[in-house]
This record gives sequence, C-alpha cells and structure tokens, in this order.
Amino acid sequence: MSDEASELSGIDVTVPNAARMYNYYLGGKDNFAADRAAAEQVFKVAPETRELARQNRAFLRRALRHVMAESGVRQFLDIGTGLPTEGNVHEIVHTRHPRAAVAYVDNDPVVLAHARAILTRSPNTVAVRGDLRRPLELLGDPELRRLIDMSQPVVVLLVSVLHFLTEDDKPGAVIAQLRESMAPGSYLILSHVTAAERAQNAQQGADVYRNANASITLRSRQQIEEYFDGFDLLSPGLVKLSEWRPDEDAMFATYRGRELPTWFYCGVGRLK
Ligand SMILES: C[S@@+](CC[C@H](N)C(=O)[O-])C[C@H]1O[C@@H](n2cnc3c(N)ncnc32)[C@H](O)[C@@H]1O
Repeated sequence: MSDEASELSGIDVTVPNAARMYNYYLGGKDNFAADRAAAEQVFKVAPETRELARQNRAFLRRALRHVMAESGVRQFLDIGTGLPTEGNVHEIVHTRHPRAAVAYVDNDPVVLAHARAILTRSPNTVAVRGDLRRPLELLGDPELRRLIDMSQPVVVLLVSVLHFLTEDDKPGAVIAQLRESMAPGSYLILSHVTAAERAQNAQQGADVYRNANASITLRSRQQIEEYFDGFDLLSPGLVKLSEWRPDEDAMFATYRGRELPTWFYCGVGRLK
C-alpha cells in the first residue's frame, strides 16, 4: 500500500471534512453523508452559502483571466486547492497559456489524492501536500520547485483558505513569508470570509466547522486588507465577490430574491 493509500484508509468518513463540504456546496459528488449533514447545518443558519461558494469560484476565474491579460506571468501556485471542480486553475490558465506551470498545494490527504488523480493529468501541473502554516517548507517542496521558479514572478492563489488559519497561526506572518519569497511583479489573489452583515448567522455557520475538525476565523475588512501590505491592490480594491471586475461571466447570485450578504472579501494585489 502506498503512503497515500494508507493515509486514505485511515480516514474516518463519519467525520465531516471542510473540503468535502465545500465540494457539496458546489454541487460536486466527492462527499459523504457526514459532509452533507454538516453542510445542511450550515445552510440552516447561512442559507446563502452555496451561492457564495459559486461566486467565490467565479471570482477566481475572473481574477486569473485578468492577471493573465495584464501580465506575462506564467507560473501559478494554488494553495488550499480544494477538491477538483468545474473550472480548475490549470484548465483556466491552459486555455490561454498551454505551457504555463500550475502547482496545487493542500494539506488534506483526500484532496491530494483526488488532485493527483485528476488535476495532474495535464503537463506542467503538480499537486503536492503542504501546509500554509509553514510557508517556507511548502515552497521548499522539491516537486514544486521543479516546476515553479520563485526567482521569477508567480501568481499565488489563497482563495477561501486563509480563514482556516487561527490568529495563533499568525496569518500576517505567513503572508509576509510568502511575499518575501515572491519576485517583484508577482500577484496575490485572495478571498476570505468575513461577517460584515448578519454577523451572528455568519458566526453560527463558521461554528459548524468545529465538527469538521476545522476552525474558521471571520476577519474584518481592515484585517483582510492588511494581508495586501507590500502589494499594490488592483482596482476595485478589496470588495465583495460579485463586485470584483464583474463581466458577463460574473454571477450576481441572489438568494430568494435577496442580494447575498457580505460574508467574503476578495482582492488581487501586484507585488511592487
Ligand atoms: C474552502 S476550500 C477552497 C478551495 C478553493 N481554493 C476555492 O476557493 O474554490 C479550502 C481548502 O483549503 C485547504 N486548507 C485548509 N487549511 C489549510 C492549510 N493550513 N494548508 C493548506 N491547505 C489548507 C482545505 O483542505 C480545503 O481543501
């Protein structure tokens, strides 16, 4: 049995898992009963979560397309990849630049097994296990280093992942270490949950993740904006998901006719 298989055989599918819950939000099939039950608990207090997850993916698509249109960067590092879904990063990127390098990093062995099976069938694509809480170790992974040259500009994606770091994990220091490892002209694409409206519902939704062995920290606009220190925040700045350069592809999703609450901020920064 390979390391990966033995890791997988040790997985308790009766415990909900954050990546598989998110897969369920997006209408995916890679989830178990416990994940669906936990996701339904989230919907009870935060019913807009499914639409927000889709808006988050739509933001990721628009941000990638924009960065490719305005720069010559050909390397992409997606940290907190999640389970494969429609419109994975390498699919979006390779439509425009077939030879661009895409590295996927996640700390969840289930995600990694799927990523290796599905995402890395394409050339110039790798999936490695790494923990955002240890950015230098993550960047030092030999497989990743073979594909990504950190002396050249790189697009780093931290989409819907940084809120899984607690304050004890020192997310500001994590971003600073990543930033210091990135060449000028690199980009940071980031989205993060917040509780700018209906804070109690947002918090109750986040609390469900404790049963999924994950902890979500809702952060303020100012805290999230500080993660872009050292970067030029591209227009329109740090905004809600539907407001980041909406185009014909943008989803102005509503829930029962109401606009979605501001439970995410997102932005794209360019390293000076
Ligand atoms: C909500 S999913 C986001 C997936 C994708 N980035 C997106 O926005 O569609 C969060 C992912 O982050 C991963 N994750 C959580 N904490 C992490 C950490 N410390 N290091 C690496 N990945 C992490 C989870 O395993 C999960 O796959």
